[in-house]
Amino acid sequence: MVKLVEEINTVEYLEIEGQKDLKGEIEISGAKNSALPNMATALLTDEPVILNNLPDLLDVKTMIKLLEHIGVSINKINEGKYIFKLDNVNSLEAPYELVNRMRASILVLGPMVARFGYAKVALPGGCAIGTRPVDLHLKALEKMGAEISLEHGYIIARAPKGLKGAEINFEKITVTGTENILMAAVLAEGTTILNNCAMEPEVVDLAKLLKKMGAYIEGEGSSRIVVRGVKRLKGTNHTIIPDRIEAGTFAVLSALFDGNIRLKNYPYKYLDFVHQKLKEIGIDVIPLGKDEVVIRRDKQLKPVDIETKEYPYFPTDLQAQFMTLLSIVDGLSTITENIFENRFMHVQELDRLGANIKVKGKTAFIKGVKKLKGAEVQATDLRASAAMVLAGLIAEGKTKIYNVYHLDRGYERIEEKLKNIGAVIKRGVEFIED
Ligand code: UD1
Repeated sequence: MVKLVEEINTVEYLEIEGQKDLKGEIEISGAKNSALPNMATALLTDEPVILNNLPDLLDVKTMIKLLEHIGVSINKINEGKYIFKLDNVNSLEAPYELVNRMRASILVLGPMVARFGYAKVALPGGCAIGTRPVDLHLKALEKMGAEISLEHGYIIARAPKGLKGAEINFEKITVTGTENILMAAVLAEGTTILNNCAMEPEVVDLAKLLKKMGAYIEGEGSSRIVVRGVKRLKGTNHTIIPDRIEAGTFAVLSALFDGNIRLKNYPYKYLDFVHQKLKEIGIDVIPLGKDEVVIRRDKQLKPVDIETKEYPYFPTDLQAQFMTLLSIVDGLSTITENIFENRFMHVQELDRLGANIKVKGKTAFIKGVKKLKGAEVQATDLRASAAMVLAGLIAEGKTKIYNVYHLDRGYERIEEKLKNIGAVIKRGVEFIED
């Protein structure tokens, strides 16, 4: 479980002094889940793809390393603006050391096999195919004529004569699966029909970018997408949408601090369902002009029942952060996780801070307590780490969060953003015994 940083015997932590008076403004960064597939489009053309509003995140750095390994030259023009250009293909392989760090590395599979007729991508670490898998990506590529084999922990996809359009019915809604096959279909011969697609704004953003590159796509944002393949795509310039998960995380933070934090560059339209749930709890998100919101809350918040579900419903990626909020709302709330198994690892950490949460099956029962109290906790995954940071900020005393590299994967400059609104937070490295 313990992630080692640089040296084998160190672990990085964040220490937060809770209950400080937070107020001010936070600006929402570009969306990680939009940035990653959008970066992979550079594999579909020889011309430059220019991306703006690219967040400075560990996952983005991992994708940069992966694309560079394949042969994409990447130049930073200024903060958040990068040019991606595939010069020479060095390797059609996504090595284990990168895929293991980030499952979304699988996003290079579709573009590589579509454009070059071959791709070798390590199976995401710890995931047996068929359980937490990429089986739906592979089945779709097979349907498009690719030959898939699994050799020595690698997926090998071959389509020497190119991919062919097909009708694909995703058995389950998959975000990166939809994106991967969309990127494959734009260069396939003929028409591809994708049914039961993910409707997330990040899928729509990818389709928009691909269309600017010359792709024919219809129906993005609905469950049925139709793609007419083209022979080649051109370069373009595109701005990544704001991160709705970061926005939702900071909306919760603002509510926890009496609405004293205003949020800029806030993607209001992507958060309808989240706003409905906040309203049920007694929290209003009020637009203040262009892309800015302010949060207003009732003094006495109310418990609520939440179920995670694919967009446009409540995102699994905000479940943990809402659990922190509900842990101090008087009464009994429930959160049911329908997308991922085993996504309640933050429960025992919140309980260490004095929360009263029990899990039964896929539902967490949250009995509100008066306050949380600082303790030492683990960041168990990306969104769980955000939940721990929120908890540390409202808890009495000091909270030390270990394994914060998870946080760096998905929250741009989080310490700086929090310090700017008055948080007392510091990062350190601790030696651990073997
Ligand atoms: C994406 C997001 C992640 C978010 C998740 C769900 C990115 C980079 N990551 O992850 O932040 O939490 O959507 O909204 O965009 N499944 C299969 N077979 C497959 C693929 C998926 O069974 O081939 C299952 C998964 O195990 C899971 C469900 O489908 O239970 C949804 O997963 P999926 O939408 O694919 O998640 P990701 O795209 O990996």
